[in-house]
Amino acid sequence: MAITNAEFGSIRNFRESDLDRVLEIASSSLSEYYSEALILDLYQEWPQAFIVYTMGQEIEGFLIGSKFSPTEARILILAVEQKFRNIGVGGALMKAFIDLCSRNNFMSVKLEVRTDNDNAINFYRKRGFVVTSRLKAYYSDSSDAYTMWKIL
Ligand SMILES: CC(C)(COP(=O)(O)OP(=O)(O)OC[C@H]1O[C@@H](n2cnc3c(N)ncnc32)[C@H](O)[C@@H]1OP(=O)(O)O)[C@@H](O)C(=O)NCCC(=O)NCCS
Repeated sequence: MAITNAEFGSIRNFRESDLDRVLEIASSSLSEYYSEALILDLYQEWPQAFIVYTMGQEIEGFLIGSKFSPTEARILILAVEQKFRNIGVGGALMKAFIDLCSRNNFMSVKLEVRTDNDNAINFYRKRGFVVTSRLKAYYSDSSDAYTMWKIL
């Protein structure tokens, strides 16, 4: 049966037993390489901001946030497995993270996105993010990034 919307899924915090699945989604969805050690380090930094979207037992997407400063939070990674995109999973993860940031009194959220990733840029724009700067050769393959920023 085709999945047409994400309303039956749920969001919970990452657990270390989710690591393999998270790495699988990261490697199939993102151009940057993220090692096991890096993912676990990010988890230690702010465990509540590492969230996964599940439907049944399966993880479909995840978001890792971090604290950039006492007032500014950051989205480090957001990825949804290809076959579960465009049904609301990314939006639900984003909403849960923004809610967490508001509860923790952050005033803004920032992120970086590849300048050629039109899909993600539009996704973020529709959710209130604006481009504030361009970072030259930000990624390991020398691609540029846009910094995007949202006031809470
Ligand atoms: C960017 C990304 C995370 C978005 O995740 P997603 O799960 O597809 O996001 P959503 O489904 O919530 O929203 C995408 C579109 O689906 C549509 N959609 C959402 N829920 C829907 C539903 N129930 N029924 C029909 N369409 C729906 C919306 O039109 C939405 O488009 P909009 O952004 O114009 O509003 C995903 O495309 C991804 O993982 N991309 C690869 C990795 C990446 O680029 N990450 C960002 C790096 S910075």
